[in-house]
Amino acid sequence: MEITLIPRTGLRLKTPVLAASGTFGYGVEYARRNDIAGIGAIVSKGTTRFPRRGNEPLRLMETPAGMLNSIGLQNLGVEEVIQTLAPQWSQWGVPVFVNVSGTSIDEYVAVVSRIDGTPGIAGIELNISCPNVKDGGILFGSDPKSASLVTAAVRKTTGLPLMVKLSPNVAAIRPIASAVQSAGADAISLINTVYGMSIDTSRRAPMLQPVSGGLSGPAIKPLALYMVYEVAKEVSVPIVGIGGILSPQDALEFLMAGASAVAMATALLVDPGACHAVTMGIETWCRKNDVRSLDEVIGAANPAFRPSKKETGSTSAAGLG
Ligand code: SIN
Repeated sequence: MEITLIPRTGLRLKTPVLAASGTFGYGVEYARRNDIAGIGAIVSKGTTRFPRRGNEPLRLMETPAGMLNSIGLQNLGVEEVIQTLAPQWSQWGVPVFVNVSGTSIDEYVAVVSRIDGTPGIAGIELNISCPNVKDGGILFGSDPKSASLVTAAVRKTTGLPLMVKLSPNVAAIRPIASAVQSAGADAISLINTVYGMSIDTSRRAPMLQPVSGGLSGPAIKPLALYMVYEVAKEVSVPIVGIGGILSPQDALEFLMAGASAVAMATALLVDPGACHAVTMGIETWCRKNDVRSLDEVIGAANPAFRPSKKETGSTSAAGLG
């Protein structure tokens, strides 16, 4: 069930099911015991110029049908990623995108220029949507102009596949998607988490530090699906759908809304092997429904989808070819 995720560079994935940034770390623990090459692609934890400790606890909690996180971009920093992780990734036979975060355009550019040309790193996911940091993050993804400026600056810095991750916490998503496409994004991933909070009634205070976090999991799936549907009407670059995907059925909904691929996030905390299960479920569904190429499925429920510019090049949706 191979697809071409990035037509410009010809980057192909073995399956349209990715491990999203955040809940899969750097893939290292999973790779010790499992067939990591069976995942479409891996997106690393958000990476900044220098290591970050993240927010104080409490920064993760379950909610009905999901969870809240306020990790605050805890990460190892770009040098450690390049020196320790990229050499491992280069052995895995699976494309790894580094999710890049920053507090300024200069920081995004500095991280990406360090990454550029590093063996083992297949692409960049530009994180302009983190809701848990005071500076940067979602501030860049909140309006078309700033989203465009940071995307264009990074585009000038690297020829690597560039996917831009959008936030749902905006009044209008389509102008932002359009702006990042015009600024040179090769693909768009959405959605990041939705602002949320919880209150500890015994302390009469917010549960999370500092106050709010990002809601993820099945609770946000309908919102994510709608946003993918809307963005698919707007842009011609491939879309990676994210948000509460647990099952093959969920993934198929995103594909039919217009995503060329999907990424699993919160589900991986419950079942780290969920990407494989969803891939197999999509294959089974395709076989049962006599679907020979994912191109028959992508955008099938979205009349305004423009397939001519988003062909996946999938030739064996049911894994039969
Ligand atoms: C975090 O580290 O706070 C989450 C990252 C993100 O939402 O982009």
